[in-house]
Formats: sequence, C-alpha cells, structure tokens
Amino acid sequence: MAWYDDNEMWAVFYDCMFDQDSFVLASKQCQQILDLVAPSVQSVLDLACGPGRHLLGFARLNLDVTGVDTSGYLLNQAANHLEHEQLAANLVHTDLLAYKPKQKFDLITNLFTSFGYYPSAKENQLVLNNACDWLNVGGTLVIDTFGKEQAAHVIEPVHCTEYENGDIRFERPLLTDGMSVYSNEWILVRGNQAYRWEYEHFVYSANELTAMLKQAGFERIEIYGSLTKDDYDLEAERLVAVATKESC
Ligand SMILES: C[S@@+](CC[C@H](N)C(=O)[O-])C[C@H]1O[C@@H](n2cnc3c(N)ncnc32)[C@H](O)[C@@H]1O
Repeated sequence: MAWYDDNEMWAVFYDCMFDQDSFVLASKQCQQILDLVAPSVQSVLDLACGPGRHLLGFARLNLDVTGVDTSGYLLNQAANHLEHEQLAANLVHTDLLAYKPKQKFDLITNLFTSFGYYPSAKENQLVLNNACDWLNVGGTLVIDTFGKEQAAHVIEPVHCTEYENGDIRFERPLLTDGMSVYSNEWILVRGNQAYRWEYEHFVYSANELTAMLKQAGFERIEIYGSLTKDDYDLEAERLVAVATKESC
C-alpha cells in the first residue's frame, strides 16, 4: 500500500494537517488563485482535493467544482463539510491517473504539496500531461508545492511542532536519491500514545517543474514563491507554478 492510501494515518494526523484555521486559509487562497488566472473561470478541478478545503472556497464563489482524491476518509470529510454548508461539488473517489473527466475545465489546481507522489518520474509527468489535456484553451493549472530549493534551504534533522490540543509532532526529514526525493518521518505524540507515519515524494526545483510543464504542453509558465506572487527565492513560502494552455 502506498503511504497516501493509509486512511488510518490520515485520520490520526487529520487535526494537525487540516484544522479549522487551515480551512479559513484555503478559502482565502481560492480568491488568490482566481486573481492569478484569467477572469472567466467557471469550472474548477482540484486534483488531490483531500478534505475539500479549496472545493468549499471555490463553491462559495459559485464556481462549478470537481474534486478527485484517492482517500475515502478525506473525501468523506469533504462531503460532510459541503453538506454542512449546503454547497455542491462533484467528488470523485479515484486515483488521479485513473480519473476520466467528462468535461474540460477552466482552472485545475493541485495544492498543499500534493504533486510528485507517484514513485516514477513518468507517472508524475503524466499527471501534468493529463491536466493540460483536460483544460479548455486559455485555462490554467496552478500548482502549490514545496520546492527542492526550499527543502535544501530549510531542512533540519529534527523539527518539532506543538499544537493547542497538546499534540506534539516530531519530523525527521531527509533529501535522498540525489536530492530528488523528500522523505519524512512524522511522530505524533498524543497523550500517552505515539504514532509514526513515513512518507516520501519527489521534490522539483522551479526549473525542473517548468520543464515538465512545458513537456506537458503548457505554453506560458510563471513561477512564484507564494499565491500572492512573491518571488521564488530563499525567503519563499512555497513553490507556485501558474501554467496556461494557450492553444490546443
Ligand atoms: C497533503 S494532502 C492535500 C489535500 C488538499 N489538496 C488540501 O490542500 O487540503 C495530499 C492529498 O493527495 C491525495 N493523493 C495522493 N496521491 C493521490 C493519487 N494518486 N490520486 C488521488 N489523490 C491522491 C491524498 O489522498 C491527499 O488527500
């Protein structure tokens, strides 16, 4: 089983990753994303939508929203949130590479470090190729991830985060395979229990990601260090790629 198919672990780590503040932030990010792209967006596909934080944000803005994810646990969370607010979204429970959309989209997103999870470079490239195929001409793919330059800059042997509910999370990250893979171990201490989760994914430099997007067929690619267009430099919070499909 791939690490991201472990629903038990998503449940254990859910509160660390997707607390209420993160939902508020995601809603703000939806407007920031729309400000990055052409003004005529009607339809949005969120690839690896998880608990639907951005689906909610886009649905509140009256967009036609679809989310795809492989985790039944996280999609259930998304369904509950949508129902609670009486918002509509099309939720698709499948692997990204098995997804067969019935329509094209104006905007495709892949957010919060959800890219590079497949174990082969070819499969990760295929995610971008598909995204380009599934966009309307003039449509845009927005990727918000953690760049290789950032990983190399900020990595420390052990990192500890304390949460308001008393949970403590230790991280032990490594850059492996010629610094192409970010491999991390999370240890969550909750009361008298400890939970370990190991995960890894490819990390790309801005230039590597740009080359992959070009190969996928995107003609215009902008790189930023945040969703509000900060420079991608050593102070950058994120690696954000805004890739537009300008022709068929
Ligand atoms: C870090 S979470 C981000 C979730 C969401 N984008 C957000 O911002 O809240 C990564 C997500 O990628 C999903 N995922 C990982 N590999 C996948 C795959 N092959 N197909 C579909 N979803 C996948 C996981 O289930 C998880 O929901």
